[in-house]
Amino acid sequence: MQILVTGGAGFIGSHTNVELLEAGHEVIVFDNFSNSERSVLERVEKIAGKAVELVEGDLLNPEDLAAVFRNHSIDGVIHFAALKAVGESVAYPLRYYRNNITGTVNLLDCMVEHQVNTFVFSSSATVYGEPSKVPITEDESIKATNPYGQTKAMMEQILLDLAASRPEMKLGFLRYFNPVGAHPSGLIGEAPTGVPNNLVPFIAQVATGMREQVSVFGNDYPTPDGTGVRDYIHVVDLAKAHLATLNYLTGDKSPDEPLIVNLGTGNGYSVLEVIQAFEKASGKTVPYQITDRRPGDIPTCYAEGTKAKELLGWEAQLDLDAMCQDTWRWMQYSESLSS
Ligand code: WQD
Repeated sequence: MQILVTGGAGFIGSHTNVELLEAGHEVIVFDNFSNSERSVLERVEKIAGKAVELVEGDLLNPEDLAAVFRNHSIDGVIHFAALKAVGESVAYPLRYYRNNITGTVNLLDCMVEHQVNTFVFSSSATVYGEPSKVPITEDESIKATNPYGQTKAMMEQILLDLAASRPEMKLGFLRYFNPVGAHPSGLIGEAPTGVPNNLVPFIAQVATGMREQVSVFGNDYPTPDGTGVRDYIHVVDLAKAHLATLNYLTGDKSPDEPLIVNLGTGNGYSVLEVIQAFEKASGKTVPYQITDRRPGDIPTCYAEGTKAKELLGWEAQLDLDAMCQDTWRWMQYSESLSS
């Protein structure tokens, strides 16, 4: 199939492109490169041994989108393109609502106009806010606590309303927990611009000596060692889940209602456990200091992943050690890129 991958030059998008190409699909990447590099796509092609078509454009420019749908016979869309920094969304909510909501509605308008009915949406466990219980199941109530999470929750509601008005639409909402890691080739990985918001890329930059130490945001949480517990999932496992979702939505037993699944490993690791795992993988010491809690953080968050296993036949295969080893290999390679 011809798959349009918005934000396909980004972290999860690039890894998903590899899986799509290796499964024999054709990939058209639509990206404005606001948070990614073009060179990523050359490295995706190198890994997969196949070409990726690139269309540079912006979801906020309906003409850019119309051109893509006019010039290609698109069978399905995987939609990654979005702003995703929680702190930034609190500071600039309108930028997040415009880019994430208006951008996605523009995309959906084009899909409806061109009768493209298969849509895989990059959602997030952030829509749950502070869960009533862990592990978190998909029927946990939606209570996003920041504008970024709100854009994901609102988009899910918009998609449910669209599906109700157009039963021919085949929709999948994938609620990611904490994506980390890199392709085992070391050629692609997470490349945050500026100071990383997230834990693992920050640890990785301390391990390379790029940064002094990790600030551990609080060790007085109700968790085994007092630091925050999260469900880290390897980006390659996550990429494979997108392919499994595409197969499910286009398969003969495709669903009548939108597919909504958590994508996590079902294991929770604390900040200190992740630091320790990274030291083991890299052979480097990762200095840290305990600092105040980060506003908005929750103590514990990890997935109950039965639904993805039952419906998609998918479950995470790669463990925390693999996540750290693959990240480390990518850090060494990407340092050679910038030197
Ligand atoms: C993980 C843990 C922090 C940085 C966010 C978004 C979520 C998704 C993933 C987009 C927490 C602690 C972190 C640091 C630290 N993003 N930490 N020092 O907050 O679970 O999820 O990223 O889709 O939507 O909410 O991820 O990596 O920022 O934090 O101690 O320098 O590490 O307190 O316990 P988070 P994170």
